Amino acid sequence: MFDAKNFVDEAILKLKEEIKGRAIIAVSGGVDSTVAAYLTWKAIGNRLLPVFIDTGLMRKNEDVYVKSIFSRIGMDVKVLNKKDDFLISLKGVIDPEKKRSVVGERFIRAFEEEAKNFGAEYLVQGTIAPDWIESGGGIRERIKTHHNVGGIPENIKLKIVEPLRDLYKDEVRAVARYIGLPISERQPFPGPGLSVRVIGEVTEERLNTLRDVTEIVESEIEAAAAKGEIQMPWQYFAVLLPIRTTGVHGDKRVYGETVAIRVIDSLDGMSGNYSQLPHSLLEKISIRITNEIPKINRVVYDITNKPPATIEWE
Ligand code: XMP
Repeated sequence: MFDAKNFVDEAILKLKEEIKGRAIIAVSGGVDSTVAAYLTWKAIGNRLLPVFIDTGLMRKNEDVYVKSIFSRIGMDVKVLNKKDDFLISLKGVIDPEKKRSVVGERFIRAFEEEAKNFGAEYLVQGTIAPDWIESGGGIRERIKTHHNVGGIPENIKLKIVEPLRDLYKDEVRAVARYIGLPISERQPFPGPGLSVRVIGEVTEERLNTLRDVTEIVESEIEAAAAKGEIQMPWQYFAVLLPIRTTGVHGDKRVYGETVAIRVIDSLDGMSGNYSQLPHSLLEKISIRITNEIPKINRVVYDITNKPPATIEWE
């Protein structure tokens, strides 16, 4: 049985031993990086610099959310605006693994630059067990390169510290609950962000469209769960597809965009089932999306389990 208190005590001791100088950590507002940042901060105090890298691939208002979460804990986060760097590097990139490596590489370059300014020799990462298992660690074949694992170039100058490496998500959540972090129940969000949910080329316009859809999907699912109409799923999000289809607005033909809704029930993200949401809820989401974002005229629901599909589309 996993003991969160024991884990926290041991992790802080280990971090104290391991990190001799200054360290940097990129926080995303997710459970893993927030827990990793908190433990490291407890171990080395202000020798840790937490940064939020605004990649332009995040959901709406994430920078404000992340800053507020950390200020509630008592930690100060530096926000780095790297939107242009990420978008330029992703220009013309369509292959999912290439997207992941481009994003990973950009992250590392941003860390290195900021680490140099801060005089840090260590990079703390919130990597958890499924990240490296699915990236081809151990005996498994690589399914996809999780950005905080596979994107790390061989010639990285920073020493990598991964305090959550052996934990599964439910254990990280238990640690977050034990510490009292307000993000303990937050749904996972992939490191490469919305770039792996915009299928095909990632452009600012497509990212903005997906941000608007994502907000509708998240708010409707969270409202339904809060009212007790559904159980809170493991993950719920939208994917913008690279195909257009014919539709009708009023009496006019439109040739619009298509989004897929993905809602998954799972324990650890390693496997999962599509969530059998009530049709009335799916219809409400579909109507809101097509009414509020007129360029979208088709909404489909992904009814594939993992396996054979993965949770994210890329
Ligand atoms: P897949 O798509 O592999 O996703 O079934 C399993 C879980 O991992 C999340 N995911 C990521 N998390 N970096 C992360 O930190 C990544 O590169 C990444 N890719 C996928 C995904 O959202 C799901 O919860």
